Amino acid sequence: MEELFEKVFNELGYDIKPKIIKSNKDADFQCDECFKLAKEAHKAPFMIADEVVAKLKEESSFDEYFKEVSVAKPGFINIKVSDKYICDNLRKLIDDDMLGATKENETIVVDYGGPNVAKPLHVGHLRPAIIGQAIYNILKFKGNRMIGDVHLGDIGTQMGQVIYGILTDFPDTKPEDVVITLDYLNETYPKISALCKEDEEVRVKCAKITKDLQDGDPIYRILWKKIWDLSVGDIKRIYDYLDVHFDLWYGESHAYAQFDEMFPFIEKQNIIREDDGAKVIDVKQDDDKFELPPCMIQKSDGAYLYATSDLGTIWQRVKDFNPDDIIYVVDGRQSLYFVQVFRAANKSNIYHGKLEHHGFGTVNGADNKPFKTRSGGSLKLEDLIKQVKEEFINLREENKSMAEEDLDKIVNAIIKFADLQNDLTRNYIFDIKKFSEVAGKTGPYILYTYLRINKLLSQNSLKLSDTIYNEADRALRVKLLEVGNVIDQAALERRPHYIANYLYELSVVANNFYQANRLNDLDEQTKSDYETVLSLNNKILKILLELLGIHIPKAM
Ligand code: ARG
Repeated sequence: MEELFEKVFNELGYDIKPKIIKSNKDADFQCDECFKLAKEAHKAPFMIADEVVAKLKEESSFDEYFKEVSVAKPGFINIKVSDKYICDNLRKLIDDDMLGATKENETIVVDYGGPNVAKPLHVGHLRPAIIGQAIYNILKFKGNRMIGDVHLGDIGTQMGQVIYGILTDFPDTKPEDVVITLDYLNETYPKISALCKEDEEVRVKCAKITKDLQDGDPIYRILWKKIWDLSVGDIKRIYDYLDVHFDLWYGESHAYAQFDEMFPFIEKQNIIREDDGAKVIDVKQDDDKFELPPCMIQKSDGAYLYATSDLGTIWQRVKDFNPDDIIYVVDGRQSLYFVQVFRAANKSNIYHGKLEHHGFGTVNGADNKPFKTRSGGSLKLEDLIKQVKEEFINLREENKSMAEEDLDKIVNAIIKFADLQNDLTRNYIFDIKKFSEVAGKTGPYILYTYLRINKLLSQNSLKLSDTIYNEADRALRVKLLEVGNVIDQAALERRPHYIANYLYELSVVANNFYQANRLNDLDEQTKSDYETVLSLNNKILKILLELLGIHIPKAM
């Protein structure tokens, strides 16, 4: 359809690759391109639309494609497609593993973890994990070679603090003989971190340990490794629950290992400026509309910074994968920082491929402020998951007897769908009750739709005639045809919410179909057509849910 429109536009002298988009009005689809052309053509949009529609009607294939094409002022082209067009394209969709989406072939790194070792995961780690994993899955579906990296904060102050704690608690034990537990870790970090705020002497000691650790002190390294293994094991456990996986468990410590190679290279580019003994790269540009401080890569005392480790990480990724693109799914409040790092990577000729920061908004409590526990601390991610599970179990009597495995799938669906239906840049209020309902725009609603339809399907029917039976049937079929564009758009913009919103819209029309069309007492052809449409519907629901990291329970 887009090709046909393109031909007509071009023949009329308009140089454009027109997009056909879904329509929320009475039409199936619409084309809004005439608005873009109006200015240059010195014509009102509807005049161009009139020309296009008139010319389209002269096409020999018009009837094959369309039932009706009309102009709506001030310049929309409304499209109702023919039944044959719908059925032909549904048949194509049934056989298409790509669901109508186009293929891509890039090497893309996604950086979507960022937890700090020695501290448990908290609410702030929820969004990068589920948004990042969804972006990873979507781009992988499109055919790209994907590399996911957790990028742990594993060599910062907190590590020095915990090592200080161990040295004080086990003064007479050889470092290799020290045995620590997760409980010990969870107590020690907050304890020493609080102590550092009160006691300057301890703070200085911890800072010194951190610096020596970064420089490779062998004793500290032994303790560091113990902390790392213990803490990362626990972090993995929570990520596993959320079905979030990383190809690389690298951290800032891996970036530090690049510095011996990277620094001489940067020095050669003549872009480092000494500023009070510190090393900085100026990244300001004349047309900036914001204040941008220089990117500091080494402090006057020789210490490295957050930005140095991100540059080291880019260095390593270029060496290992030569990626076309590196995508960062990190809190939106770090956006200025990423402008600094990206420009520094460019200026220093470390990397000239694409760098994208997709900064997400905050998860808020009922007061619309970033989520906190009652005592004002940040809520542990594990506790948040537990809360959701409890709320869901208590929602209805029958939930209490649900299989554990199914419960966990539903908890995942509740949390992920709640998050992923928002444009990732927006903040949202975490309302467990609302998110757990089986009605409304929720994960459970989509799952329920799938399961209810699944019960009707006797066999995977794959035959489809050219008949469309009623409005509810037509609405579902037209909706199914949108799927390829939805995936493409979500991939292009790195915005999983297009898929989440489509899942909801598809579920609504599928439920309408269910209400309007009973599957018993039908003649064979109608029944087979209905089953084909419904099994395609469910195939699409399942694939798209999985792209969002949501899996279907056996029953609910
Ligand atoms: N560890 C960092 C933090 O706690 C987040 C890391 C994000 N990723 C990155 N490549 N900078 O803020």
